Amino acid sequence: MDKNIVWHNAVVKREDREKLNGHKSFILWFTGLSGAGKSTLAHRVEEMLFELGCRTFVFDGDNIRHGLCSDLGFGSEHRQENIRRVGELSKLFVEAGMIALTAFISPFRSDRALVRSLVAPGDFIEIYCNAPITVCEDRDVKGLYKKARDGQIADFTGITSPYEAPENPEISVNTGTDSLENCAAAVIQYLRDQGKLPS
Ligand code: ADX
Repeated sequence: MDKNIVWHNAVVKREDREKLNGHKSFILWFTGLSGAGKSTLAHRVEEMLFELGCRTFVFDGDNIRHGLCSDLGFGSEHRQENIRRVGELSKLFVEAGMIALTAFISPFRSDRALVRSLVAPGDFIEIYCNAPITVCEDRDVKGLYKKARDGQIADFTGITSPYEAPENPEISVNTGTDSLENCAAAVIQYLRDQGKLPS
């Protein structure tokens, strides 16, 4: 970083925004294979938080790759940069007093650890959307697994590129077998237990 760049402190602080909003700000980081149900779950959890009066926003892998990260591909260096940018973005949302929900494969432990290190302890909540690849491939909602098997897509997660499952996530949900409502309820329950939601 250029040594002539100096940090400017905000006058309105995160704590002021959290007080105004009536809830804590944090990141809900959904990780899992393509087709595991990350986006569906993130949007359902967002809907439930919204109904509780929380200020929320979902960052979705496919959508972000249409704009902010449209210059990136799926090699490991580009995935790393993708997650770094989304991590920084989420950190800004935490400063803004919001709940940031992110739905990215984020296959590498080191990249997720980096995002965790950007924010204070407790601000990064990792949610492992655990669905066996057989289930994701059977669903094949976007037809990408078939293309990857046919050799039309390189570096496809779970087939020709690795997925490193979280070792110690705050929350783990079986999105391959359990219902959407049960998975969403488990996330909300965790947040309640942690005192993160409006009373
Ligand atoms: S990440 O690995 O960098 O976190 P991200 O979540 O942004 O990935 O994007 C994943 C989405 O891109 C998948 O859900 C899928 O729709 C699409 N995609 C296209 N090519 C690939 C690929 N090679 N591997 C995984 N997903 C891919």
